[in-house]
Amino acid sequence: MSISPAPAPPTVAARTERATKVYGSGDTAVTALDEVDVAFDAGRFTAIMGPSGSGKSTLMHCVAGLDSLTGGRVLVGDVDLTTLSDKELTTLRRDRIGFVFQAFNLIPTLNARENITLPLALADRKPDQSWVDEVVATVGLGDRLDHRPAELSGGQQQRVAVARALASRPEIVFADEPTGNLDSSTSAEILHFMRGAVDELGQTIVMVTHDPQSASYAQRVLFLADGAIVDEMADPTAERVLDRMKRFGD
Ligand SMILES: Nc1ncnc2c1ncn2[C@@H]1O[C@H](COP(=O)(O)OP(=O)(O)OP(=O)(O)O)[C@@H](O)[C@H]1O
Ligand SMILES: [Mg+2]
Repeated sequence: MSISPAPAPPTVAARTERATKVYGSGDTAVTALDEVDVAFDAGRFTAIMGPSGSGKSTLMHCVAGLDSLTGGRVLVGDVDLTTLSDKELTTLRRDRIGFVFQAFNLIPTLNARENITLPLALADRKPDQSWVDEVVATVGLGDRLDHRPAELSGGQQQRVAVARALASRPEIVFADEPTGNLDSSTSAEILHFMRGAVDELGQTIVMVTHDPQSASYAQRVLFLADGAIVDEMADPTAERVLDRMKRFGD
C-alpha cells in the first residue's frame, strides 16, 4: 500500500506563544498584548490591521526583538528571543530582521544612500549592488540619494526606510505603516514591489496598515483588537477587508 506523503507544512519564520505585554503597573497598567498566539509563515506576506491602540506596533516590536514581553515567548526560527542577552538580541536583529518604523528612524547625519546600506555596513556584509539598485529604483529615490533625511519630504524619508529594510534581504521584514505617508500611486508601487519580493524571492513580510487597499497586497490579514487576534482572512481583497473593519465600530 502506498500513501502519498502529506504536503510539507510551511516553515514558520517567527511565532509567539501567549505573548503578553503590559506597560506600566498598578492603576495605570495597560495590557497591550494579551496572550497572543500567532505564527508568521516563511515566504508569506502578512498584514496586521486593527483600531489605533489595539497593539499592532507592540506585537511587531516584540516579535522583531525591539521590545521585550512581560509574559510568554517569541521565537524567530528556532530561537527563543526571551532567552537571549541584549548583545545576542542585537546580533539577531542585525543579521536576520529588517524593520520599517512607523516613525522612520533614519540617521540624520547620513544621506539616503548611506541610510539604506547601513544595516549591511553594520553587519559587515557587502551589498548585492544589483539588488540595492533595484530596491532604490523601485522606491523612486534615484536623484535624492545624496540628500540627508532633513532635506527629504516625509514620503521620501519613508521610501528610504522601506529601501533600508529590504536592501539586506533579511529573513523577515517588519513594516509599520510603510506607505502611510505616500500618495496612492507611490504606495501602490512600493506594495507591488514588496509583494514581488515575497512571490519571487521568498521574502517574509509582516506589515501593519490601516488601509484596506494596502492590506490587499498581503496574502493573509490578521485583525487585532484590544491586544488579541480576533479574526483573520486569507487572500484578502480591499472590499472584504473594509467590510470586516466596519464591524470594529459595532
Ligand atoms: N511605551 C508605552 N508606555 C505605555 N503604554 C504604551 C506604550 N506604548 C504603547 N502603549 C499603549 O499600548 C497600547 C497598544 O499600543 P500600540 O502602539 O501597539 O498600538 P497600535 O495598534 O500600533 O496603534 P496605532 O494604530 O495608533 O499605531 C495602547 O493603549 C498604547 O497607548
Ligand atoms: Mg502603531
